[in-house]
Amino acid sequence: MFVETRRQQKEVTLNKIELENAIRELGPWHHDIEIDGQLSTGKVFSPTGKLEKGKNGGVTLISPREKFTRIVKGLYPDSMQGASFLDCACNAGAYCFLSREFGADRCVGFDVREHWISQAKFVQQHRTFAPVDNVQFHVKDLYDAPKLDLPQFDFVYFSGIFYHLPDPVTGLKIAADLSKDVIFVSTAGKAVPQNPGGMTMARESTTNVMSGVHEMSWFPNGVECIQYLLIWLGFKDIKLFRFVEKKLGRIRMEIVASRTEGRLEHLDGQQLDNKWRWTNWQMEQAKEGIS
Ligand SMILES: C[S@@+](CC[C@H](N)C(=O)[O-])C[C@H]1O[C@@H](n2cnc3c(N)ncnc32)[C@H](O)[C@@H]1O
Repeated sequence: MFVETRRQQKEVTLNKIELENAIRELGPWHHDIEIDGQLSTGKVFSPTGKLEKGKNGGVTLISPREKFTRIVKGLYPDSMQGASFLDCACNAGAYCFLSREFGADRCVGFDVREHWISQAKFVQQHRTFAPVDNVQFHVKDLYDAPKLDLPQFDFVYFSGIFYHLPDPVTGLKIAADLSKDVIFVSTAGKAVPQNPGGMTMARESTTNVMSGVHEMSWFPNGVECIQYLLIWLGFKDIKLFRFVEKKLGRIRMEIVASRTEGRLEHLDGQQLDNKWRWTNWQMEQAKEGIS
């Protein structure tokens, strides 16, 4: 059954100490998520919800609320009511819980690791901070997501997953095909200014809980890589929400795209072209072909 009722979730009631112990046992956590008015999965470790990566099994603890609120306000200025939300590689489900809190009717998240989905289900069972009904989680590899037989969603989240995949183009296409309106793509990259549309291969850990599971991965070499893929996948309105240059050519980009032109008018960010601008070299290749 898709909907788990509030009454079913409340069957297990833990007191504050039991909740804190359970949260510690389920760690390390990547998402700081409010459980009730006082307790959150991060505040168990410190009053601010912050915890050094070194003391958290090498995992960064983040508070997703602020950034996600800005994105949602830009996409749904009034409320997410009537919208459906899908998170690919959902981790502990923070974005599903926030979407539900902001009014989304139906939220689904999947992640390849049981570790994260156990956390998401724990939060769902004990979160009294906001509604948690109509939220569903699955342990699933992105490449097997089509087997879930999901409908299309209004808003698809694709954050921190592109650069963990051996075939990110197929991965992004799976997510894009599940979006009927908006997709959010956040990815790390490796800057190669002379070829920003390309990708750089890397070896992927399969044991780190934040990593992929297929041993190989690809880092986009610039914004154009994701932008051009989104154009190819049929998105018409594309905005660069955030771009960060880090040390040693490492970059981070967050791109929002919609299937409808003008749809992102209220969202912060730099408007990107929705047409391919091929270089002379690429045009020559297309003319001559390669054999
Ligand atoms: C860097 S974390 C990002 C988590 C979350 N999406 C966020 O933005 O906060 C990468 C996540 O991708 C998951 N993951 C890696 N490879 C996956 C795959 N092939 N299918 C589904 N999830 C995957 C990991 O288990 C982990 O939760």
